[in-house]
Amino acid sequence: MDLEQKLAELKRRDSTAEAGGGSERRERQHREGKMSARERIEFLLDEGTFEETDRLVTHRCTDFGMAEQKIPGDGFVTGYGRMEGRLVFVFAQDFTVFGGSLSEANAAKICKLMDMAMRVGAPVIGLNDSGGARIQEGVMSLAGYADIFLRNTLASGVIPQISAVMGPCAGGAVYSPAITDFIFMVDKSSYMFVTGPDVIKTVTHEEVTKEQLGGAATHNEASGVAHFEAHNDAECLSMVRELLSFLPSNNVDDPPRRTSTDAADRAEEKLDSIVPAESNQPYDMKDVLRAVMDDGYFFEVHEHYAKNILVGFARLNGRSVGVVANQPAVLAGTLDINASVKGARFVRFCDAFNIPLITFEDVPGFLPGTQQEYGGIIKHGAKLLYAFAEATVPKITVITRKAYGGAYCVMSSKHIRTDVNYAWPTAEIAVMGPEGAVNIVYKRELEKAANGLTDPKKREAAMAAMRKEKTEEFRDRFANPYVAAERGYVDAVIRPRETRKKLIQALEMLDGKRDKNPPKKHGNIPL
Ligand code: HXC
Repeated sequence: MDLEQKLAELKRRDSTAEAGGGSERRERQHREGKMSARERIEFLLDEGTFEETDRLVTHRCTDFGMAEQKIPGDGFVTGYGRMEGRLVFVFAQDFTVFGGSLSEANAAKICKLMDMAMRVGAPVIGLNDSGGARIQEGVMSLAGYADIFLRNTLASGVIPQISAVMGPCAGGAVYSPAITDFIFMVDKSSYMFVTGPDVIKTVTHEEVTKEQLGGAATHNEASGVAHFEAHNDAECLSMVRELLSFLPSNNVDDPPRRTSTDAADRAEEKLDSIVPAESNQPYDMKDVLRAVMDDGYFFEVHEHYAKNILVGFARLNGRSVGVVANQPAVLAGTLDINASVKGARFVRFCDAFNIPLITFEDVPGFLPGTQQEYGGIIKHGAKLLYAFAEATVPKITVITRKAYGGAYCVMSSKHIRTDVNYAWPTAEIAVMGPEGAVNIVYKRELEKAANGLTDPKKREAAMAAMRKEKTEEFRDRFANPYVAAERGYVDAVIRPRETRKKLIQALEMLDGKRDKNPPKKHGNIPL
């Protein structure tokens, strides 16, 4: 064979790999509104930067007539490329080849990719669209999954791992995305579940559709398994790019810094009047975030889940920051189980990847109720506390209004190693709100006030008058930031309009921060 013939053979193999499961199956993908695996990768990466690896790998299965059905690449497209010029590794499951199912051979391709990503310190992005374990391969396929799970676990906290679920993801296959840092799902075309509708019907007699059971809305709103919901493939991939723009490539790099055109000392007058005069009135914390962050931009994570807490990324003078904020517009900003878990996972991600944490606090406390207590709010709330306490990245807190009770301690208080704690003059920092406090502390006095009065109306009026007086007294004494400021628990009481400037100054001061935790194998976060 001369070189011409050898090149022709290479070309033949390459084009077989590129054709995947063939045009008919690819057209079916398109009809369902889905891109093909290669189209997804092209769309995701900077133009012309994709370098494919292992495109000639084939499976080794001979059962069920498989020896005659070999497609180079074996249904997974793997490789590396650039995103805004930065190196990323990517794999895409090709549903046109055996339903994108996982085989011994293509699992090895992913493992090889992940090992390389770990060696060079670059993110791994998985585009999932698969019928799960390749049924014809049995336990070899399961072994392949487990090999990937191990790598997902070892890579956790070392390189960012992102999963986009853009088709089926069922059975144990869900556990690879679940271990990764962020899950994106596409509305109407993706679903994730451990056991599907048919099994559920057999076991529990429940009837449920795939969409209801594990669609994008379910996992973004109800279970919290997914962090982002996109309307289609293109939007999903653009969101992945956006997310990556905030993140460093690995745990020893700093996040990328952009040049900001938004003035670092920009004062935002409307912040001075954003907190309502009545302390039980809601306001939208997103308005605060937009007023403070570069170009008014907040890239929200977990937007549709546990809306009483906000988490996401933003930039301050071009630096990436992770934002955690109570949302007084939902459940009065109380911390419940879901909000605690959502916040804790986000805090730990930022800490692992050197992203400073900015906390905006307006929290009346933990949500009361049997549902919360039986559900384990004690251990789940402890997760958020633990996460903030163990975080060693620069931490800055702004108390805009309420900081009551245990929630005061939890929300990145000075006592758990927060570097800079600011409060607005509207802050109320105390063990509990004035009304609750008066009912407990002045219980006997209130009863005494009604002593000797037999008419229930008069009794109530006397108690109400006293309650009002004591509440005012309590509010004047404690529902302000000054007791905490006198102790140095808040470093400064700042004018709301100056928040942006103060945060940027503090972030710059903290640029060289180095802190660490005691040596240990690992902590034991209350799971
Ligand atoms: C081999 C598979 C496959 C699989 C699909 N295909 N899943 N081949 N192994 N797991 C093939 C089909 O034979 C078909 O081939 C092509 O992919 C497209 O599948 P369709 O069924 O035509 O597509 P659709 O109607 O869209 O249905 C998609 C689906 C369904 C819902 C995913 O294919 C399905 O239920 N597949 C099996 C799912 C499953 O039970 N997987 C194992 C889960 S357990 P042709 O040649 O006709 O195009 C698991 C354990 C992991 O994954 C454990 C980890 C620890």
